[in-house]
Amino acid sequence: MEQRDKPIGVFDSGLGGISVLRACVDLLPREDFLFFGDSAHAPYGEKSLAEVRRLTLAAVDHLLDQGVKGVVVACNTATSAAIHLLRQAHPDLPVIGIEPAVKPAAQAQESSSVLVMATPLTIREDKYQKLAAAFCHQANVISLPCPGLAEMVEQGLFDGPVVDAYLQDLFLPFRYCGVEYIVLGCTHYPFLRRAIARNFGRPVAIIDGSQGTARQLRRQLEAKGLLSQRAGRGTVTFQNSLPEKLAMSQTLFQMDY
Ligand code: DGL
Repeated sequence: MEQRDKPIGVFDSGLGGISVLRACVDLLPREDFLFFGDSAHAPYGEKSLAEVRRLTLAAVDHLLDQGVKGVVVACNTATSAAIHLLRQAHPDLPVIGIEPAVKPAAQAQESSSVLVMATPLTIREDKYQKLAAAFCHQANVISLPCPGLAEMVEQGLFDGPVVDAYLQDLFLPFRYCGVEYIVLGCTHYPFLRRAIARNFGRPVAIIDGSQGTARQLRRQLEAKGLLSQRAGRGTVTFQNSLPEKLAMSQTLFQMDY
């Protein structure tokens, strides 16, 4: 098989990266995609840096063993912990990461306060700290670690009293801070978009980095002559380190959120 007809590997600590997968499939419908979710080890965002690095390198090896032509790390946490190591280990492989969409939120004209929701590990890592510092002259960037929130998505909780109680508590200190944008800095959170909007309690723009990541994937494949030239639609295959999560992967892929 020609290199350009091989699948694109997409990886997340669990099911959240399916939000990024969807943006990639929408933009590149002719490609084959192989999504690997490591739900057996989720959440990554509350593990040590060394552990997340080890798990991320192993997950990418798992995709490479199946002959993928490029890898999307559809996880902000794994990107902040290990993207540089992946690029060092695989210098010829297109490796696309995701980071919280602080830039478009901070640069939006009407923006003065931007609330960034992400995992504790993403927020404490250098990569995010530098990103937030780069835009702090354009907006008041408020970093909000959300321990336990990705886990709710892993368990299929998108709404209801547990989610509402968590979000109401989380947002209480920010309700009157003049926040115009909420950045979803974890790929699990787009599946909670409606609950987040409702529990914030007043109108706010909510953005995530999935479309920017899909565009970056297209740019990199194009630059390397690796875009599939096939005429019809490609396929999407799901794998998960917890096989019982496969049915839910399909559900999330089709979910309206
Ligand atoms: N989906 C991951 C992210 O974008 C993190 C979820 C987890 O903690 O495993 O950061």
